[in-house]
Amino acid sequence: MQTAKKIESQLSEFDIKKIRQDFPQVLQTKVHGKPLIYLDNAATTLKPKSVVEAIAKHYQFEASNIHRGVHFLSEHGTALCEQARERIQDFINADKSHEVIFTRGTTESINLVAQTYGRSFLKAGDEIIVSEMEHHSNIVPWQMLCAEVGCVLKVAPMNDAGELVFEEYKKLLNAKTKLVSMVYVSNALGTVNPIKEVIQAAKEFNAVVMVDGAQAVAHLPVDVQELDCDFFVFSAHKIFGPTGMGVLYGKEELLNKMPPWQGGGDMIDQVTFEKTTYNDLPHKFEAGTPHIAGIIGFAEAIKYVQGIGVTAIQKHEQMLLEYATDEISKIEGIRLIGTAKHKGAVLGFVMEGAHPSDIGTLIDMEGVAIRTGHHCAQPVMRHFGVSATARASFSLYNTKEDVNVFIAALKKIQKMF
Ligand code: ALA
Repeated sequence: MQTAKKIESQLSEFDIKKIRQDFPQVLQTKVHGKPLIYLDNAATTLKPKSVVEAIAKHYQFEASNIHRGVHFLSEHGTALCEQARERIQDFINADKSHEVIFTRGTTESINLVAQTYGRSFLKAGDEIIVSEMEHHSNIVPWQMLCAEVGCVLKVAPMNDAGELVFEEYKKLLNAKTKLVSMVYVSNALGTVNPIKEVIQAAKEFNAVVMVDGAQAVAHLPVDVQELDCDFFVFSAHKIFGPTGMGVLYGKEELLNKMPPWQGGGDMIDQVTFEKTTYNDLPHKFEAGTPHIAGIIGFAEAIKYVQGIGVTAIQKHEQMLLEYATDEISKIEGIRLIGTAKHKGAVLGFVMEGAHPSDIGTLIDMEGVAIRTGHHCAQPVMRHFGVSATARASFSLYNTKEDVNVFIAALKKIQKMF
């Protein structure tokens, strides 16, 4: 573990002061008279000034619909949205920009795959593998598909550190495995799964692999070609962009094979009352007017992250996580939930004698925002024999001082119980 001095020097390399100035209003906010310490980044990140301004600019000066008009603003909006797609393509290193489909977020992206690829290519008796640490959004869409077509959901277990038991996962793979859908970084535990190995093992059985990258993209570098995943999904709001916006990345060949999902404007080629033909990628999957301001804000958020560098962000967050883990471990009566060797910046815990929601309420009085509950991952809670946890999650603007305030608040709360 690192010394406080080393931690300080890494922080200055990262220019945390400058980064915090990119979030000027919210990081100056007082909550219950105390400075806000925002440690709920796994739920959603704060938005930098540049993202807010890009969205405001669209509504103030250039509001228009895209792909439909020949007037200046429409063409301008269309160009911005297609440039956004290219920026995201570049960010995740997709081969083609039309492999990037805009959706409402991770949940919608997973449902899209389940309802198009799943309904068309999976049949009774086929098997889908997920892990025990999935968010509900990577469980329920598959259960719905299983109920509909008769395929079977298999669950790769985790150990008590919250790590995937890779050997058990491998045992589940067989000729009936048609799809593996697994989380890259667990929202409840912070576990970083060995996703490349997961994908490689699945490929030996020709299974299609989807990666839930919601908690990964803002915290570690992602290269979908290097991973060789078939689908990769994430949300804008967990990477400093707007809510209601996300991405489904899919390999061109698969996306072309899949039928469209929602019907409506923009996803068609020719419509008659007898027959409709569909548009090409990516529009085939983007029915209706998209969230134009959201797309513009999303691109600005990715630009912001690219300006700092995901590797630098990762280093900063890892340092904060190690420091926070060291400090919280000194408090007796606290049990960490999620102690995997490879973790993202998520610190889940329970405190003896205190319900997580009481911790959440009391720590809020100290100005500290954390999340409490089951984190949409009830099977994870069940594994650890708890109904809920408290969870602090870090991002690029958090400081060692934030961790100190958080730890001091925990100690204060503990005395109350
Ligand atoms: N999935 C989000 C979280 O972990 C909302 O908090």
